[in-house]
Amino acid sequence: MAPLSLPKFNFDLKKFSLPFMQQQNLTVGLDIGSHAVKVCELLESGKKMKLVSLGSARLPAEAVEDGELKDPDAVAAVIKSLFDNLQIKGKKVGISISGYSVILKKINLAVMNDKELEEHIQSEAEQYIPFDLTDVYLDYQDLKTNTTEEERTDVMLVAAKKEVVDSYLLMLRSIGLKPVLVDVDAFALENSYETNYGQEGSIVLVDIGSSKMNINIVAKGASLFARDVALGSRQLTEQIQGKFDLDFEQAESLKIGAVSPAEKQEDLEGIFISTTTQWIMEIKKAIDFYNSNFPDTPLTKLLISGGGAKVKGLDRYFSEETGLPVEVLDPFLMTMADTSKIDPEYLKTIAPEMAISVGLASRPCPF
Ligand SMILES: Nc1ncnc2c1ncn2[C@@H]1O[C@H](COP(=O)(O)OP(=O)(O)OP(=O)(O)O)[C@@H](O)[C@H]1O
Ligand SMILES: [Mg+2]
Repeated sequence: MAPLSLPKFNFDLKKFSLPFMQQQNLTVGLDIGSHAVKVCELLESGKKMKLVSLGSARLPAEAVEDGELKDPDAVAAVIKSLFDNLQIKGKKVGISISGYSVILKKINLAVMNDKELEEHIQSEAEQYIPFDLTDVYLDYQDLKTNTTEEERTDVMLVAAKKEVVDSYLLMLRSIGLKPVLVDVDAFALENSYETNYGQEGSIVLVDIGSSKMNINIVAKGASLFARDVALGSRQLTEQIQGKFDLDFEQAESLKIGAVSPAEKQEDLEGIFISTTTQWIMEIKKAIDFYNSNFPDTPLTKLLISGGGAKVKGLDRYFSEETGLPVEVLDPFLMTMADTSKIDPEYLKTIAPEMAISVGLASRPCPF
């Protein structure tokens, strides 16, 4: 493992695997959001990756909420038809989770070898995790932040409620898929970034989905701050719905610019301004935290992704507010796509939403 490698979590799924499974080098990335399911399949091809398939399918309202599966059958049906339509052969999938059922905790410990650390975590985890340990899957990674002056290191501890993780595993198995990896949204996002941009600089990653934002600040491959916030693009839809007395789909169309706002323009701008102001306030809180804790390594860039990153002018606004260069993350920067099979325009349009699924899809199959 590199001295500062990405935290890549996997909640010990090996015991669920079947022997003699067909060879598949990379995991099929499956990002089950609250608005849509995104799937991405990559193939290793020299320095670059080859994009084999990608797609997205809307989920029924309330099928996934707060990171939990509320209607597993409905979600299973959507995933199954997405795999069928895209003719995805790989069965080994990687998913990621977020929300209230996941706890990320960075702890600072004396440097230990792997065995000592494992024992320490097993015996001491209780004091760091606010859940009963029998109810959670636990994983950790030594971020190896020790220096020659200080023999202490940061360790990222991750706990996820078994009940929630198991409901995803069960749902995926019900349609013949083999979950081989469970990651955390913020770290899958980080993996997407590093696969495409490397480990240069100190970067703020923000994925703005439908109902939550994942904020992850990374420097040299280590996550220094990770937090989920319950804000997202659905807020815009709901406010547009309320303001103009529209149904959800009409409000969505107005929001994404599929229909002309006409006389609604001014009110619509007001909604966008007040909501995106809430978004940037949360991002600035994270940035302030980072700046006061790591004053010697200033942030170099803010990268946004998720469907919410497609709000027009958001990059410019965030840049004005933070003083940082802001870009929309391109998860396909280092990927070759066969343009006779994958429409480049579609790829460009869907790229921001695909960030997390690409982060999952670029991870090797653990077994
Ligand atoms: N041009 C646009 N402007 C604003 N919002 C948009 C635009 N295009 C799509 N969206 C919104 O982005 C959201 C979908 O993005 P994404 O797929 O990243 O969310 P999700 O992963 O399903 O949600 P979450 O991560 O919060 O569970 C929807 O709310 C959709 O309306
Ligand atoms: Mg999402």
